[in-house]
Amino acid sequence: MSEHKDNQLQQVLSLLADGEFHSGQGIAEHLSVSRAYIWKLMQQLQELGLDIESVTRKGYRLAKPLSLLDHEALNRDTNFDCQVLLTTDSTNQQLKGQNFAHHKVVTAEYQSAGRGRRGRQWVSPLASNLYWSLGWQTHMPVQQLGGLSLVVGLAVANALTKLDIQGIELKWPNDIRYHGKKVGGILIELSGDAVGGLQVIIGVGLNIDMHPQAAQAIEQQWCNVNDIFEQQALPKKSRQQILIACLTELENYLQTFEAYGFAGFLDEWQQKDECMDKKVVILQADKDIKGIGAGVDATGAFLLQTGKGIKPIYAGEVSLRLRE
Ligand code: BTN
Repeated sequence: MSEHKDNQLQQVLSLLADGEFHSGQGIAEHLSVSRAYIWKLMQQLQELGLDIESVTRKGYRLAKPLSLLDHEALNRDTNFDCQVLLTTDSTNQQLKGQNFAHHKVVTAEYQSAGRGRRGRQWVSPLASNLYWSLGWQTHMPVQQLGGLSLVVGLAVANALTKLDIQGIELKWPNDIRYHGKKVGGILIELSGDAVGGLQVIIGVGLNIDMHPQAAQAIEQQWCNVNDIFEQQALPKKSRQQILIACLTELENYLQTFEAYGFAGFLDEWQQKDECMDKKVVILQADKDIKGIGAGVDATGAFLLQTGKGIKPIYAGEVSLRLRE
């Protein structure tokens, strides 16, 4: 979608976000376009999954009000250069190549081709969750980046703790979990070697208020941050507040990681490690290995206790599952 069209759809959505009726004429004047064109924009918003009611002589309204991400507030309240898109293929993809910049954050209300680890899809319905990617240029040698997704997980877990949520756990190497259900995931990709360091793209998806109908393609147990607020009788926070909390923690955690590596995070990881002392299986392309989770080492490798001793497992193309 062109930037201009994305912008027009964002303007329409900002008007409709209050859940009140807005006349086609009024919206058309606001955008300086025809009413027929507004009708087309409404069709497109509906195709993106929005429930829009259209009533003669009253206009258009959303079935339920929305709170959209506000790029000015994000830029004011974080130290990153933040861009908010209405739709994109994948925020990680958006930061690749020429578009890469250190400390640039791309976030979107909707991803048409959200990516998970190991080629999986990341379900990304409109204005329900958080999807963001951060460009991070670093002088760390690539061999030390094994602990990066763990550090990002710790930063997000800590941000949620600061919003009073208790009980967030992490599953090596990239899952943010609550009571055995996935609440978020991390996808780290390298954009290239630049003069002056490696270009790393840190992508994070966090389920906030996803409708179960939108989540039918998800093959594992999942939950929303809003479900946790409810279960713990906490007041809900907006997606904007949650994103600011996550980015603030991420900035601090990345600084420490770059200065001291992963070793300093070992204790914190151990406290949040869902697999510690649990029966697990490592799924590899050729064979599965069963064992007991024994934490991680100073490089971020998973430690699997097997009958033959402790075996380090490196992220790459493996999956970790808990066993009954
Ligand atoms: C996983 O758990 O498999 C990783 C999920 C990562 C999803 C995020 S959403 C923002 C960014 N853009 C993407 O396409 N993927 C990541």
